[in-house]
Amino acid sequence: MAKKLNVGLIGYGFMARTHSNAYCKVNHFFDVPYEPALRVVCGLEDKVAKAFAERWGYKSHTTDWHKVIEDEKVDLVDICVPNNVHAEIAIAAAKAGKAIICEKPLALDGAQAKTMVDAVEKAGVANFVSFNYRRVPAVTLAKMLIDEGRLGRIFHYRANFLQDWTISANVPQGGMATWRLDVKAAGSGVTGDLLAHCIDTAMWQNGQITTVCAMTETFIKQRMHVETGKPEAVGIDDACTFLCRFDNGSLGNFESTRYARGHKALYTFEINGEKASIAWDLHDLHRLSYFDHADESIVRGWRSIHVTDGDMPYMGKWWVPGLQIGYEHTFVHQLADFLEGLGQGKPASPTFREALATQYVCDAVLASAKDKQWKTVKKA
Ligand SMILES: NC(=O)c1ccc[n+]([C@@H]2O[C@H](COP(=O)([O-])OP(=O)(O)OC[C@H]3O[C@@H](n4cnc5c(N)ncnc54)[C@H](O)[C@@H]3O)[C@@H](O)[C@H]2O)c1
Repeated sequence: MAKKLNVGLIGYGFMARTHSNAYCKVNHFFDVPYEPALRVVCGLEDKVAKAFAERWGYKSHTTDWHKVIEDEKVDLVDICVPNNVHAEIAIAAAKAGKAIICEKPLALDGAQAKTMVDAVEKAGVANFVSFNYRRVPAVTLAKMLIDEGRLGRIFHYRANFLQDWTISANVPQGGMATWRLDVKAAGSGVTGDLLAHCIDTAMWQNGQITTVCAMTETFIKQRMHVETGKPEAVGIDDACTFLCRFDNGSLGNFESTRYARGHKALYTFEINGEKASIAWDLHDLHRLSYFDHADESIVRGWRSIHVTDGDMPYMGKWWVPGLQIGYEHTFVHQLADFLEGLGQGKPASPTFREALATQYVCDAVLASAKDKQWKTVKKA
């Protein structure tokens, strides 16, 4: 029998929906030691929080996140709010002895993220950061193939995360819909929002990034601020490109922008090893491209592996071979792994400390772009 785990969800936006969907689904598909019970949801507007609670089955709602932490029955605090609010909630939740799931990026910067790591480690509470792309079955399969040594020595890792939604100068900054463009709420632009995903996946698959050399650009220098109603300087990076070295000797090449007309969420990576190469594309997320140099030359070529068979990561829990799953399942997978880890007393990855490592790479990238110099990444 799975034990009940009372959830306090903070935020009722995009990520709150993906996490709530995962809470509702996880026990139907995975044999995990806990069953989430939706106790309370918190968000800024009472009416919206109430409607969210009714739609998803949360027992109550509030507009004050402190009430979620003060509720003794809440076992797990799930942080789905803008980046500038993560730290104070996580630190208070750790002090109250709650398990914590926090959306990415962990914090505004490495220094703030470190205070969160210290708080959860001091309190000894379970902690997890939602870098969900690791749990796309094809991405997990790529990690398995690398760990099995099928690529041999790795030479190159390249990743892109391309969008196009901020090209218009009329998109404002700040407020509830466009907090990502306000540096005070977001911490950074595409570096923390998009490249953080690429960096997390890359370091999970290919080890620590040690040095970086970056350039960033803010194409539109002023935007109307929703809160002040006035044009204000834009403090985020609209685009970022960086080169890096990994600890294993391989070279990395990363690019992200919100100015790539025609791309909505094009996250891709390619990894080249001495024996084989791997490529993946979020727009075709159930496929993994694989090139194996050991194949007989007359049939050697890029294979497109349809990642749907029962022996492929997570897929045995879903439908039958040939039938694919999607984006929302990555949140179910990470929740299942988190609950399994909680039951076994073994933290699921990435923990706050692992997310701190990603935050330090983001810090080094932004510092390199500012100083126009190579930077060494701090160790988490
Ligand atoms: N894992 C992913 O792929 C992914 C995707 C999108 C967003 N995110 C991350 O998730 C977090 C939330 O992003 P989102 O897209 O869901 O945002 P959103 O704008 O859709 O929702 C933000 C929510 O935060 C609430 N909120 C803001 N300030 C608050 C406060 N002080 N107290 C209580 N509630 C408050 C708002 O009411 C709103 O419900 C961010 O850290 C973001 O970077 C991660």
